[in-house]
Amino acid sequence: VKRIGLLTSGGDAPGMNAAVRAVVRRALAAGCVAVGVQEGYAGLIEGWMEELDHRAVGDIIHRGGTILRTARSEAFRTPEGQERALEQLRRHAIDGLVAIGGDGTLRGALALHRRGFPVVGIPATIDNDLAGTDVTIGFDTAVNTVLEAINRVRDTATAHGRTFVIEVMGRHSGQIALMAGLAGGAESILVPEVPYDLDDVCARLLRGRQRGKRHSIIVVAEGAARGFEVAQAIEARTGLETRVTVLGHIQRGGTPSGRDRLVASILGAAAVEVLLQGQSGVMVGVRGDGWVATPIDQILATPRPLPEGWIQLAEVLAR
Ligand code: F6P
Repeated sequence: VKRIGLLTSGGDAPGMNAAVRAVVRRALAAGCVAVGVQEGYAGLIEGWMEELDHRAVGDIIHRGGTILRTARSEAFRTPEGQERALEQLRRHAIDGLVAIGGDGTLRGALALHRRGFPVVGIPATIDNDLAGTDVTIGFDTAVNTVLEAINRVRDTATAHGRTFVIEVMGRHSGQIALMAGLAGGAESILVPEVPYDLDDVCARLLRGRQRGKRHSIIVVAEGAARGFEVAQAIEARTGLETRVTVLGHIQRGGTPSGRDRLVASILGAAAVEVLLQGQSGVMVGVRGDGWVATPIDQILATPRPLPEGWIQLAEVLAR
C-alpha cells in the first residue's frame, strides 16, 4: 500500500480530527502518501480528494468536527454508488482506505472490502454502540458535555424545586444516557435497550419528595422516549412541576477530551499499520493500553450490551 485514502463519514464525533491527524502522519512516517477524501462516501463517489501533508493536519488535534467534513450518503448504499467509488479510487491510484465513523461507516467499509478493495475502519461516534473496542472516539467528550449540562440544570432545579427531564442522543443506544445519568446523579435513566414503566418513575419521584428531596433529574435517551412526552406524563401523574432540556447536537461539538484524543491518536496509527500489514475488512479498537483488529462483519453482528445493573445503581445512589 503506497497511497492511503482516508475519510470521515456519518455523524461527526469529537476526536475525528485527532484520528485524521494520526492517520496522515503515521502514513507519511511509513513513506506513504495520504489522500484526504472530502464529505465521506458522498465525496468518494464524486472524487473529491487531495493529498495531505504534515502541515495540512497541523493545529487540528484539539478541534471538534472534522476537517474532511462528513455526510450520510444514500448513493453509496447502492451497488452503482459503490462501483463509482471504486472507479474514483482507481483513478486517484489509491490502494488502501481508512474509514473513520460509526456503524454506517463500517457497513460502507465492508462493502468496499467485499468488492476487493483494502479498507480498515476506525470507530468514531458519540453513541459508543460498537463492539470490538473499549470505547468509540467522541463518546467521552459527549458524556462530559452532558454532565456539564446536568450540573447547570441542577442549580436551577434545586432553586425552584423542580423535576427536570434531560433528553440526550442515542437513537438505538442508551450508552450516553446511562453513563451521564449515573455520573450525573440522575434518579431515573430511560434507555432504548431496557423496558421501563413511567408509573415506576413517578412512584420513585414521589417517594423522593416524601424523603425531602427538593429536585429530581431524569435522563432519557432519544431512542427510549421524547423528553417532552415523559415530562407531560410526569406532570399529569404526579402534579410535580417539570421542565425539559433537549441537548441535541450540542453533544456532538466541542473540543475533544484527553481520552478521545488519546484513543484517536492510537487508533489512527494502528489503522495504517494494519493496512500496511495487508489486512482488510477489519476495524481497529482499543483494549486496555493496547489495540486489537476485529473483522467488521463480526462487529456489525455483535450488539454492544449496556453494563448490567447500572440503571438500578443510579436509582439506589440518587435516593
Ligand atoms: O450517531 C450519532 C448521532 O448523534 C445519534 O446519537 C443521533 O441520533 C444522530 O446521530 C443524529 O443524526 P443527525 O445529525 O443526522 O440528525
